[in-house]
This record gives sequence, C-alpha cells and structure tokens, in this order.
Amino acid sequence: MTVKPVRKLKAHIFICTNERPPGHPRGCCKEKNSEALVSGFKEEFARRGLAGEVRAQRAGCLDTCEYGPSIVVYPDNLWYGPVQPADIAEIVESVISGAPVERLRIPGK
Ligand code: FES
Repeated sequence: MTVKPVRKLKAHIFICTNERPPGHPRGCCKEKNSEALVSGFKEEFARRGLAGEVRAQRAGCLDTCEYGPSIVVYPDNLWYGPVQPADIAEIVESVISGAPVERLRIPGK
C-alpha cells in the first residue's frame, strides 16, 4: 500500500464553537455567532485561492471564553478575540503577511 504524502499547511485556524446552556456564567462562543466565522474563513480562503494552504476548523472551548468568539492561529500561536466576520479578511491577510492583527490579540496569550 502506498501512502499519499500529506500536504503541509501554512496555517491552521481553530475557531471555538463550544456551546453552553443559556445563562451559563462564562457564556460561550457559539451564542456569539462563531459558526459564521467557520464558514466565513472558508469562503475567504476560497476567494483568495488559499484552499489547501490554510485551514479553518471548529474547536472546543479554548478557555478564553470572556474574549469570545475566540480563535487561535497555528503555527504562529496567535490568539484573537472577540472576532467578528468583518475581521476575517484582515486576519487572513495577516496569515499571508506574517504580521499579527494586534488590535484583536487576547491579552496574555
Ligand atoms: S466557549 Fe469559546 S473559548 Fe470557551
């Protein structure tokens, strides 16, 4: 059996889509519309021809709930929140350029 080589990604974006019951003291990213970020990032990658180079996927709680919706970009270990759909293009541009989006960085991360 031959194993196909795995393509190396330039960046991997994990988006918290954790859901908690209504009224939970920590809230959750799902109630803050984080699902829209998953589809938004994928659409932006496709629009820029980056599919296969970068990947966005759902993640469980990143333990930065107070800053949600939160995301983390690897391998650069950049944590952002609260991220809105309007921020997606700027974040994708930062992945390409290598310059973090300072205004969205989660303090201490
Ligand atoms: S619920 Fe999203 S970081 Fe905790």
